[in-house]
Amino acid sequence: MNAPYSNRQWFYVKRPTSRVGSEHYELRESEISGPLAANEVVVRARYISVDPYIRIQQHERNTYDVPHPLGIVQRSGVVGEVVESASPLFAKGDWVSAYSGWQLYARCHQSELTKLDPASAPVSTALGVLGMPGRIAWFGLMEAGRPRPGDTLVVSGAAGAVGSLVAQFGKKAGCKVVGIAGGPDKCRFLLDELKLDRAVDYREHKTHKDLTSTLIEATGGVDVYFDNVGGPITDAVIPLIKRRARIVICGAISQYDGGLDTPDMGPRFLQHMLFQRATIQGVLARDYINRMDEMVAQVAPWVKSGEIVFKETFVDGFEQLPAALNSLFEGGNIGKLLVRV
Ligand SMILES: NC(=O)c1ccc[n+]([C@@H]2O[C@H](COP(=O)([O-])OP(=O)(O)OC[C@H]3O[C@@H](n4cnc5c(N)ncnc54)[C@H](OP(=O)(O)O)[C@@H]3O)[C@@H](O)[C@H]2O)c1
Repeated sequence: MNAPYSNRQWFYVKRPTSRVGSEHYELRESEISGPLAANEVVVRARYISVDPYIRIQQHERNTYDVPHPLGIVQRSGVVGEVVESASPLFAKGDWVSAYSGWQLYARCHQSELTKLDPASAPVSTALGVLGMPGRIAWFGLMEAGRPRPGDTLVVSGAAGAVGSLVAQFGKKAGCKVVGIAGGPDKCRFLLDELKLDRAVDYREHKTHKDLTSTLIEATGGVDVYFDNVGGPITDAVIPLIKRRARIVICGAISQYDGGLDTPDMGPRFLQHMLFQRATIQGVLARDYINRMDEMVAQVAPWVKSGEIVFKETFVDGFEQLPAALNSLFEGGNIGKLLVRV
């Protein structure tokens, strides 16, 4: 290796029982040095992803995966630059994406890296619209939501990374799209930038029944509900589903802070599923990983032409990572939240 690199790493050291914060992490400094093995590459992170699934994997029981182990670097998606390479596939200066976690430098085998082309899209999009959030937004909506022209699509968490894309894909599919988000700035974003038909600020509603009243007026009934948040917002939408509605469960961020079992003891208001012969389907991004190229082929031209808005919220500073993760639960982001390091 040419240089020893001063590394900084956030170790995940304690399981949160409610909101995650810096007390669950330890910042450690070390040095990367020594010879590179064949096909090994050193990557310097430039954008590090914070995602709600990190909080899911902090629970002590199995979810869709085993819990994230304690005492290791927090896993996450990263976009970075190659600073040294013993691989025939990567050269110094190449941009790559990797799953190398919350650390400034990582030694990676070439098989762990995907090369990015900065000329075709900003490299940070590999963690957002052209990455995992884009993948679940596209396949979740198109394959589980099955939108048809004229359908009414309701999206919760509509100003976030996944929701803002689902809402726009829904417009492209010819739907009337109603977005639900927290606060006037996010609702303005939904109307002015994403050109949605209606935006509903859930924070203005004290109970799910109040929210249902507003949504009756805004939607006239729901054909597709793409759910990112669960809890009271979902309670408000379900009574409005129409005949053969499709409910896509992508996330339930309002429930992640508790034990995942409280207070949402189970799916609620299921009689509406019976009355309307509706379907409800959970979707997971990893199930579509082998179809990434298909999604990128469809969506990348829209990103390039500006037909799809991909908003990013940047937080600067490696030391900000735990606080940035926490801010997802406070609604601190519009679009994809990234930490720039
Ligand atoms: N199934 C999958 O494979 C998959 C993949 C990616 C993401 N997801 C899920 O999709 C959802 C969105 O993920 P994302 O990465 O796009 O995050 P995001 O929407 O960009 O950020 C999270 C947003 O959730 C909202 N939120 C937080 N607490 C809330 C609460 N108690 N009630 C209502 N809204 C709340 C906040 O927006 P407001 O200000 O509007 O409240 C916040 O900005 C998450 O549930 C995530 O787990 C699933």
